[in-house]
Amino acid sequence: MTVTTGLPLSVEWKDTYIRLLDQQKLPHDTVYLDLKSIDDVHDAIVTLKVRGAPAIGITAAYGLALAASTYQTEKLEEFQTFLKRDRDYLATSRPTAVNLFWAIDRLIQVSLTASSVNEAKTNLIHEAIHIQLEDEATCRNIGEYALSLFQKNDKVLTICNAGSIATAKYGTALAPFHLAKELDFPISVYASETRPVLQGSRLTAWELQQSGVDVTLITDNMAAHTIKTKGIDAIIVGADRITANGDTANKIGTYGLAILAKSFGIPFYVAAPLSTFDLSKRTGEEIVIEERDAKEVTHLNGQAIAPEDIAVFNPAFDVTPNEFITGIVTEKGIIKGNYVQAIQALFEG
Ligand code: MRU
Repeated sequence: MTVTTGLPLSVEWKDTYIRLLDQQKLPHDTVYLDLKSIDDVHDAIVTLKVRGAPAIGITAAYGLALAASTYQTEKLEEFQTFLKRDRDYLATSRPTAVNLFWAIDRLIQVSLTASSVNEAKTNLIHEAIHIQLEDEATCRNIGEYALSLFQKNDKVLTICNAGSIATAKYGTALAPFHLAKELDFPISVYASETRPVLQGSRLTAWELQQSGVDVTLITDNMAAHTIKTKGIDAIIVGADRITANGDTANKIGTYGLAILAKSFGIPFYVAAPLSTFDLSKRTGEEIVIEERDAKEVTHLNGQAIAPEDIAVFNPAFDVTPNEFITGIVTEKGIIKGNYVQAIQALFEG
């Protein structure tokens, strides 16, 4: 089954640079940036020009391969030292999405198998390309599994943007909607705007509209009323990090939606690739939650909307405990029930 969305690619490798869709300019302008250095890549991730766990990982992988291509040494040991330094630098860009660390560490592993610097440089680029291609196939599988959870004419709520532009293609939580459109399978989507930086209104509403999906925008504080009055059938969200017990970090506001789902007795699904699982962490308590600039809360479009010097708490993510999650949709299938066992089996199988 092939989905042919007319969506732009968020990340593209151009041999000597990375072409990036500037997600900060959407939905008004479709602007592409050319990232030519590791500093450009670091800045693009920090400033959310690229965001979404898999897209961050793909961009960072290209960024590391790009940096490595410029190292002026023939000595493998020195090459490794430079690579480790740049890996550590990219790792400081955002703390919560584990795909970032997963991707750059995968490149480090690949570099260890090379027998010359030139070979290492080539292998790093190939590996980054591989990560992107793999993610596209992964997201397509996630979309197919996720669509099996919905009935025709279902109304489904989502938050943030776990869509095509947050991944190599198709997305995770939004993949079933792109697929449904392709198959003429009617589903209505409600997109929560996602304060403070509005990934729901700027990105999800735009992306689904581009695909011709039936999408309605709401503000975050309308969720309970919308579930009740519109008869929302299910909630599906993406993930930035899933621990060994199924606890899930995702965009701030996700936990609240999970509590609402339980209260209304509707299913709450998480859609994520295996690259988003972090088995080194037992529970969500161990996840580092990124806190971002107060200005994201006090300003809108550069205009102050709060008193000067107000104290601000701006966590970018929250953690939904596993007991609120009806199922986790991965590229290998849907897991439910005892997440500790199911996740272990997922990685062993
Ligand atoms: O801060 P963001 O926009 O990077 O947060 C993104 C999310 O929370 C997504 O739901 C998650 O990364 C999954 S993207 C497929």
